[in-house]
Amino acid sequence: MDRKSITFIIWTSVLSISYAIIRYHLFKGLNFSFFMIVFNKGISLAGILLLSSAFVVGPLARKFPDIFKQFLSGKRFFGIWGFGLVFAHSVISFFFLSPTSFSIFFTLNKLNLVGNFILISGILSLLLIGFAFATSFPKLLKFKSKIFFLSLNASYIGLIIGGIHVLPIGIKGWTEPNSWPGFLFPITLISFLAVLFTIYCRTVLNSIK
Ligand code: HEM
Repeated sequence: MDRKSITFIIWTSVLSISYAIIRYHLFKGLNFSFFMIVFNKGISLAGILLLSSAFVVGPLARKFPDIFKQFLSGKRFFGIWGFGLVFAHSVISFFFLSPTSFSIFFTLNKLNLVGNFILISGILSLLLIGFAFATSFPKLLKFKSKIFFLSLNASYIGLIIGGIHVLPIGIKGWTEPNSWPGFLFPITLISFLAVLFTIYCRTVLNSIK
């Protein structure tokens, strides 16, 4: 992996986690006893941004080679690190998924419709992205090229499901900027826009000659 890609991965992770800390601890005044929940939001954002980057760098490099060609070699690593971060987010979320930490996902101590949606969409997204992760180490595990391309498409669908996964968590607040701590965009909205931008690059941008 080249230096530019490592720098990109580190900065995406550091800025995403810092953003979550500034939004929730600094502006919302959330107690530091909730740090792991805030950290988990930061890594989910970094993960989704890196996964999106893995998909958009190709179309962007074809359209704007002077700026984006230098990042093409990092594409695979953006995907690998992106998966690592959303995997960590999934493990932490499983750990905290209780009525005490997430009362809106529970009714009478049982997962409600929203809770089930978050859980099922999260697992599905993780499995589909994990399929591409498994095919990303050709020296360790050899797959036919057909399987490799299938896994990339599965991962793309997994990313879209990851975007849908955040909808019930945040959509209500997206149109109320006055309720945003420090007027900072909700993490759910940034994640959703990143997925929309990915779809735009892979469809519209890819078809422009
Ligand atoms: C087993 C798998 C998963 C579970 C159980 C899960 C669970 C959760 C939960 C409970 C939240 C709400 C967190 C909060 O409000 O603090 C959340 C938010 C989120 N999840 Fe997942 N998730 C999973 C997989 C994924 C995957 C694979 C992605 C990305 C592709 C993802 C991306 C996000 C994002 C961006 C948020 C918004 C963070 C925020 O609250 O602002 N999740 N997830």
